[in-house]
Amino acid sequence: MTDIWNRLKSLRKSQGDARISGLFDADPNRAQAFSTEADGMLFDWSKTMIDAGARDLLLDLAKGANVEARRDAMFAGEKINETEGRAVLHTALRNLQASVTVDGQDVMPEVRRIHDLMAAFANDVRSGAFKGQGGKITDVVNIGIGGSDLGPYMATLAMAPYHDGPRTHFVSNVDGADIADTLKGLDPTTTLVIVASKTFTTIETMTNAKTARDWMAKSVSNPAAQFAALSSAVDKTAAFGIDESRVFGFEDWVGGRYSVWGPIGLSLMLAIGPERFDEFLAGGAAMDAHFRTAPLAENLPVLLALVGVWHHQICGYPTRAVLPYDNRLLRLPAYLQQLEMESNGKRVAMDGSDLTQPSGPVVWGEPGTNGQHAFYQLIHQGTMPVPCEFVLAARGHEPDLAHHHILLAANCLAQSEALMRGRSLDEARALMAAKGLTGAELDRQARHRVFPGNRPSTTLLIQQLTPYTLGQIVALYEHRVFVEGVILGINSFDQWGVELGKELALKVEPLLEGKPSPDHDPSTEHLAQVFRQMRG
Ligand code: F6P
Repeated sequence: MTDIWNRLKSLRKSQGDARISGLFDADPNRAQAFSTEADGMLFDWSKTMIDAGARDLLLDLAKGANVEARRDAMFAGEKINETEGRAVLHTALRNLQASVTVDGQDVMPEVRRIHDLMAAFANDVRSGAFKGQGGKITDVVNIGIGGSDLGPYMATLAMAPYHDGPRTHFVSNVDGADIADTLKGLDPTTTLVIVASKTFTTIETMTNAKTARDWMAKSVSNPAAQFAALSSAVDKTAAFGIDESRVFGFEDWVGGRYSVWGPIGLSLMLAIGPERFDEFLAGGAAMDAHFRTAPLAENLPVLLALVGVWHHQICGYPTRAVLPYDNRLLRLPAYLQQLEMESNGKRVAMDGSDLTQPSGPVVWGEPGTNGQHAFYQLIHQGTMPVPCEFVLAARGHEPDLAHHHILLAANCLAQSEALMRGRSLDEARALMAAKGLTGAELDRQARHRVFPGNRPSTTLLIQQLTPYTLGQIVALYEHRVFVEGVILGINSFDQWGVELGKELALKVEPLLEGKPSPDHDPSTEHLAQVFRQMRG
């Protein structure tokens, strides 16, 4: 492995000032050769500095890291989450016909049972067979955070054209503003509250859940009857008072950020109905099948991962931007931030040794075209290249507004073209000369209008954003993160890095209330003191 890493780094060094456009000049077939199609999606990675030599070395990296063996171990239910002693089987939630064994037990009958219970409950809510005290449920509030919020929230927004159920709302932040703003205007007698928490101990979620219960108790005689729970800690849901008929459990082998496929996806199922939800699962399952069977060189998750490794670990670009040209994928960047940064933001390898390569990159983004009017300036002319990952659907959902969609797509393609092409000083000078500038002022103004270009990007092109293609996209990114983690030797399925802050928050709380709380640093003590003064 060290040898392959070194060869990749020297290859990158040897590219010197070479430009991506030069790769196209050298290979007229590059656009096709560095585009990969699978199950109706196209991933174009030609606008990068990955040439045939780099591609082969990157593939060697994947082979050397035993990606295929680790992948098979994951699907087989082996305990690849070694620091928590758990299997990693979110894939079982979307492969309902599969047979998967954990600790010698077939887990699928229970997965199917819970799936069917969820579907029956969703149908009852949607039809009105399940009622609130004031009648048919009009609104659903999902209370959760992290993986118990980001996945269902992202997917529910993305699936707006398919909504035919109750309105859905999401509360995550412990900031009372979140729940106050959400509940304002809702009718407690026709609202269903879903408490989504794998552990059922997360302080933000439990605080919000109690606030929602108090809110409902003011208008409803039995608020718990309008609560459902999604959790792997079924005993704790009973203690909260939620009847077991509305508790949908899942096992510890479903990681929080991978959990939208099962009970945590209930809000999505309520919004679009169980049949559409199953299409979402089918899209995920199709990506699983592709990931398990396609050769590495044609395997979409593997290729996305290799492009990621090239840009971050080899080229040294610290961040990557996810830029969906689809307004309904508004929360995709936030969702991917958790998926990628909580999974691969680690400093030690599975065996506890220090990582020999940088861990995962900072992931960020915003839908186009909005981002163009905000941060693309830096992407085009800043000093640090930001690899961009564009996502685009060929068709929108508004046939009457097809001209909007063409404009949207034109912007997406134009951005990746502009990033690669840039604008030279000569071109900028010509522009300024055409405006009548001359001499030193022409030079000065021209320099501001130079675009260095040669900025890498990839484009994921799908036909339309449907439940099926959304399932494909989410599973694609999940497996990409997995492959990157395997190549880096990381355990992508634990998240110890979130623990310390949680522990200290419990100790800082008394400090803010003026109660004794030892062992804080002087800055924290001072901030707490001023905070107390300002509160009055
Ligand atoms: O932030 C840490 C984390 O454990 C995430 O991994 C998880 O998605 C989130 O908190 C919520 O956890 P829970 O579903 O147990 O409330």
